[in-house]
Amino acid sequence: MQGGVIACILILSFVSPCLCLNKWNFVLEANESTYHNVINYEAKGDAKSDNSNAFLSAWKKACEAEGKQTLVIPNGKVFMVKNLELNGPCKASSIHIQILGKIVAPSMDQWGSDKTHLIAISKVNSLTIDGGGQIEGNGQTWWEKCNKNCPRPRLVQFRFCNDLSVSSLHMSNSPGAHISINNCENAKFFNMNINAPGDSPNTDAYDISSSKNVVFEDSTLAIGDDCIAVNAGSSFIYANRLKCGPGHGISIGSLGKNNAHETVEEVHVKDCTFIGTKNGARIKTWEGGSGYVRKISYENIKLENTRNPILIDQHYSTKNPNNGVTSLEISDVTFKGFKGTSADEKAITLNCSSNGCFNIKLDQINIVSSNPQKKAQASCSNAHGIVGQVIPDVPCMLK
Ligand SMILES: *[C@@H]1O[C@H](CO)[C@@H](O)[C@H](O)[C@H]1NC(C)=O
Ligand SMILES: *[C@@H]1O[C@H](CO)[C@@H](O)[C@H](O)[C@H]1NC(C)=O
Repeated sequence: MQGGVIACILILSFVSPCLCLNKWNFVLEANESTYHNVINYEAKGDAKSDNSNAFLSAWKKACEAEGKQTLVIPNGKVFMVKNLELNGPCKASSIHIQILGKIVAPSMDQWGSDKTHLIAISKVNSLTIDGGGQIEGNGQTWWEKCNKNCPRPRLVQFRFCNDLSVSSLHMSNSPGAHISINNCENAKFFNMNINAPGDSPNTDAYDISSSKNVVFEDSTLAIGDDCIAVNAGSSFIYANRLKCGPGHGISIGSLGKNNAHETVEEVHVKDCTFIGTKNGARIKTWEGGSGYVRKISYENIKLENTRNPILIDQHYSTKNPNNGVTSLEISDVTFKGFKGTSADEKAITLNCSSNGCFNIKLDQINIVSSNPQKKAQASCSNAHGIVGQVIPDVPCMLK
C-alpha cells in the first residue's frame, strides 16, 4: 500500500513535477477557502463590455456559500462595471475580494440613472479587500461638465460593514469622493494609493460618517479635496503615517450645517505629512449647529508649504458670517509637534464661535512661512487653552 503511494508520487514527479505541485497547492487552498474567479462567471475584462452581471453572479455565489470565500478579479484584464451593488448579509464566515487586475468606471455619458457610486458594499461583515490592483473612476469625463450642483458618484462606498480590511490598492480619478465609509465598525485601510488631480472637485480620498474604530495607515493620498473628512457620528478614528497632498488636509467636518445637531469625538492623527495642501489639521463647523467635537489630537505633523496648517473655523458658512451665532462645542483638542512651512502668514487660526472652544493645547510647534514676504502668525477668537513651546507666538489664546 505505502509502496504503491510512493511509486505513484515517484511516477507523477517524474512525468510532471509541476502537476504534482499544483495539485498539492490546489488541495491546500481549496481546503481553506473557495475561490470564485469572475472570469468563470463570464466576465470579459476587455475594458469595454459591462461586467456588472458577471461580478454580481460571482458575488452571490461567494456570499451565499458557507465558510471562507474568495472573489478573484484576475490580473492582466480591465473590467468595466456600472453601479455595482454587493450586498449582504452573507452566509460566508468571511469574504476576501482579491483585486489583482483593473476595474474601471464608464465615462459619464455611459452611466445609468443611479449616479451615487461605482461600487457599493453593504451589510457585509469580515470582508477583506486587497490584491495590488486598481479601481479607476474616469472622473475627468465628469469634473468639467458636472461641477458644483451636479452630484458626482463616489468610487467605492461601504455601508454597515463591520470588521473590514482594505489594503494594497490603487484608486484613481473618482468623479466624487474615492472611498466613503458609513455606519461601519472596526475598519482598517492601509497601504493605499489614492490619486486624482489637485484641482479635481470634491475628490476626497476618504469620507467617513456614523462609524467607530476606523484606522487609516501608511498611505499616499494625493487628491483634489480632503485626504480624510471625518463627519457626523464618527468616533475613535485613527490616522497614522499618511502622506497627504495635494489636497485639503485631514478635516473634521464640516459639521452643523442647517442647524444640525452632530457629534465627533476621539479622532487621533499622528505622524502625517501635508505637502502643498490647502489646509493641514482642520476643524470646521457651521454657525447655528449644535453638538460637539471633542478629544481630538494632531501629533507629529510635517508641513511643506501648507496653507492653514492649524485651523479651527466655526464660521464655516459662505453666506452670512455672524460672530454672534453659536456653533458646536469644541473641547480637548491638542496640536503637538508640528514642524515645517506654511504657504503664507496664516500658520495658526483658532476662530471659535461666541460660545468658545475650551482646553485647546498647542505645544512643540515650529511653523515658518515659505513666503519671505509673509511672516507666519497666529490669530484666535474665543479660544481657551494652553500654549507651550510654539513658533509663531500665540498671544491671543485665552485662559
Ligand atoms: C481540511 O478541512 C477538513 C474539514 O474541514 C479539516 O478537518 C482539515 O483539518 C483541513 N486540513 C487542512 C490542512 O487545513
Ligand atoms: C473668523 O471668521 C470670520 C468669518 O469668516 C472672519 O470675519 C474673522 O476675521 C475670523 N477671525 C479670525 C480670528 O480669524
